[in-house]
Amino acid sequence: MLLLRRCRRLTAGLSPAQAQRARPAGSPAPSWCGVGGGSRSSSGGGEDGQTAQDPRWRPALAGLLVGTGAVLAYGLHHHKAERPLAPMEPAPPVFSQAEVSKHGSLEAGVWVTFRGGVYDITEFVAMHPGGDKILLAAGGALEPFWALYAVHSQDHVLDILSEYKVGELDPEDQARQRAVEPSDPYSGDPQRHPVLRVNSAKPFNAEPPPELLGDSYITPSAIFFKRNHLPVPRVDPASYRLRVEGLPRPLSLSLADLKSRFPKHTVTATLQCAGNRRSEMNAVKQVKGLNWGIAAISNATWSGALLRDVLREGGWGPEAAGGGARHVQFEGLDADASGTTYGASIPLNKALSEEGDVLLAYQMNGEDLPADHGYPLRVVVPGTVGARNVKWLGKVIVSREESASHWQQNDYKGFSPGTDWDTVDFKSAPAIQELPVQSAITQPADGAVLERDADGEVTVRGYAWSGGGREVVRVDVSLDGGKTWQVARLREGEEQGEEQGEAPPPPPLPGRAWAWKLWEVVAPLPPGEQQVEIVCKAVDNSYNMQPDSVAPIWNLRGVLSNAWHRVRVTVRED
Ligand code: MTE
Repeated sequence: MLLLRRCRRLTAGLSPAQAQRARPAGSPAPSWCGVGGGSRSSSGGGEDGQTAQDPRWRPALAGLLVGTGAVLAYGLHHHKAERPLAPMEPAPPVFSQAEVSKHGSLEAGVWVTFRGGVYDITEFVAMHPGGDKILLAAGGALEPFWALYAVHSQDHVLDILSEYKVGELDPEDQARQRAVEPSDPYSGDPQRHPVLRVNSAKPFNAEPPPELLGDSYITPSAIFFKRNHLPVPRVDPASYRLRVEGLPRPLSLSLADLKSRFPKHTVTATLQCAGNRRSEMNAVKQVKGLNWGIAAISNATWSGALLRDVLREGGWGPEAAGGGARHVQFEGLDADASGTTYGASIPLNKALSEEGDVLLAYQMNGEDLPADHGYPLRVVVPGTVGARNVKWLGKVIVSREESASHWQQNDYKGFSPGTDWDTVDFKSAPAIQELPVQSAITQPADGAVLERDADGEVTVRGYAWSGGGREVVRVDVSLDGGKTWQVARLREGEEQGEEQGEAPPPPPLPGRAWAWKLWEVVAPLPPGEQQVEIVCKAVDNSYNMQPDSVAPIWNLRGVLSNAWHRVRVTVRED
């Protein structure tokens, strides 16, 4: 925070030229690499014509990535302007590590080394909020920090970084650097199932193929979608403690305490990422974020202690958090290079409600939580967006305030389709908690080729779910793009658990329908049609329905994508 404040103070109102003047006296004017003349204006060409220097990118840069070097990388990512390269001088200046180390602050200039090159990124840091993270690398090597985000290894990022090059690192210092290879912060990540479709390897984000997802009411843990912002932390269960603060009696609970001192409660609940089905928003207009298909959603059985029981053990009462407590904050044990941990919060009334079923879960599908899903303890907030279901839980804080975390304040919020990165004000929108009604077709797949058999019918299957414990009461399916509809059969009771040979789940209690419903319909293919658009939409018990198209709900982060789901199939005649 100190770094951030200092960065903001120093950079507030600086123009690129002023930032350039902030270069310390004695810094070489790197005319040979085109960095020194303040002429780095862009000819456009970013994905929507914006550039790294464009202040309109500030919220995007600050909001999209947290982590050392991320700001630089994203700025660079969008700084695709093609500029003529200034002629290279034959012998670039050579700097020793000691010289580079002197440039470890905005006052002295921010220099970094990367693969043997020396870069003066003062101007870049000065122009971008969040530059405090990259200051961690100032005066030293970028490699250990960039190792956190594989995005930095992309060619265009490296190309644009080269524009900031001021010279070479002394070969002896290069040899010393190579001797200290940065360790890969993701080397401790667990093995994953090969069937998963990987959206990002580091951090690991992946979803199952839809046809597998739709096969089982309880998603096997191995293929349950995985959404990590950071490396998976290794937590020693023996020394693990959950800290609970903001209560008259702060608690420090071991795993054994959680298992023995509180009744074990089991809930079947669907988790859905706010970015599920983002790819459909991308198809309308590019958004920022992982390009999730329809499977950033899964359903599991979770067991653990009820959060409300734990809060009561800490002496919950009106005097908690000094009176006026409104929120419960959660902190994960996963951290970026600056030590910033993942965090989120939920309203206190959800946590305390007898009908909220908020769990401090140590089991998933009857076994210890897998590493990717938060071992040894995670929060499960049924009916609430995935982002608040904090994994690798380290701390619970009863508070008057929401979590100050980036993911609560500057991400996972919805905006108007008319709001863009020029106009977005993250403070103006509430953090997403309960999610809207959702459904999607898991079979047939988009683009499938179907043979028209003698019956001329097709089996359509999918999932449906709504947030806040609202029960899905109906799913409508159309085989002509939404002109005519028929009602799908919701697979209730026994049928839901039949694939696993499990006992059927009891019908949901009113207001506590935390689990999805799988549905199915066998419908006649439209006669003579070769191209068929199959559509589904769900209705929950508040009669909320999905919007018919994506464009009116498009938003710059691509969250809350719940328009009618459409798949196009080709029908071949026998
Ligand atoms: N908790 C921690 N500590 N770190 C994270 O990166 N990701 C969140 C949430 N909890 C996250 C976290 C998000 S955005 C989602 S959608 C869910 O975890 C995903 O949970 P899963 O990986 O078990 O499916």
